[in-house]
Amino acid sequence: MRYTVMIPAAGSGKRMRASQNKLFLQLGDRPILAHTLQRFQEDEWCESIIIAIKEEERLLMEAIAKKFNLSKITQFVVGGAERQHSVHACLEAYDGSIDGIILVHDAARPFIHQSTIHELVMKAQETGAAIAAVKVQDTTKVVASGIVQQTLPREQLWAIQTPQAFRYELLYNASKEALAEQFEATDESMVVERYGAPVHVVESTYDNIKMTTTADLSYGHYLLKERGE
Ligand code: CTP
Ligand code: MG
Repeated sequence: MRYTVMIPAAGSGKRMRASQNKLFLQLGDRPILAHTLQRFQEDEWCESIIIAIKEEERLLMEAIAKKFNLSKITQFVVGGAERQHSVHACLEAYDGSIDGIILVHDAARPFIHQSTIHELVMKAQETGAAIAAVKVQDTTKVVASGIVQQTLPREQLWAIQTPQAFRYELLYNASKEALAEQFEATDESMVVERYGAPVHVVESTYDNIKMTTTADLSYGHYLLKERGE
C-alpha cells in the first residue's frame, strides 16, 4: 500500500496563546511539528509528504525538515486563511495518480499510531473515504440560549480526528465544489459528505490528541514519557 500525506501547518495556534505558531513549541526534545512529520517519514507506506505553511515561516519549516531528515517532504505549499484553504492548496499541488490514496493529517496531532494510519489507508482503498474517530464518552446535549433542547443518543456519537483518508479524485472534486459554493468545512469529511459519497469510520485511540491549549501540551509531555520517547 502507498499513500501521500497532506499536512496543514499554516495556522497560528491562537488558543495556545504562545508567541509563535504552536507547531514550533517543544515537546520533549523536538518541536511538535517534527514529531508529527516523523510518524510519516518512518512509515513505509508513506510515499511523500506535502505540507501547507505560511510564507513567512518557510525558512523555519525548511530548517526543521533538514534537521530531522524529513526526506519525504516533496513540497512546501503556501496555505490559506482557513484550514480548508490550506488543505486545498495541498490538493492542487499533488502530482500523483488520481486513483491514489491521500491522507490529510493535522500537524498539531503528534501522537498518531501507525496501526490507525494503515487501517485508514486500507479502508479508503476499499471504499474511497475513511476517517479516524473515537466514541464520545460524555453524555452530549444540544443547548440553545442556555437551555437543553435535546439529549443525543450516545451510542451513535463519535468524536472525529485526523487522519482522514480519501481517493484523491474524490476529495479534490468535493473540495473544489465546496470552495466554489463557499461551504465552510472544519474537516475534509464534511465536504465529501456534502458531495454525496459515504465516509467510513475507523476507530482510533484517545491519545491521538490535537495540541490546542496548554493543557494538551502538558498531557503531551506525559504521553511522551509514558511511551518512552
Ligand atoms: N491550519 C492550516 N491553515 C489554517 C489554519 C489551520 O494549515 N489557515 C492547520 C494548523 O496549523 C493545524 C491544523 O490546521 O495543524 C489544525 O488546526 P488548529 O488546531 O485549529 O490550529 P490553529 O488554527 O493553528 O490553532 P487556533 O485555531 O487555536 O488558532
Ligand atoms: Mg484553527
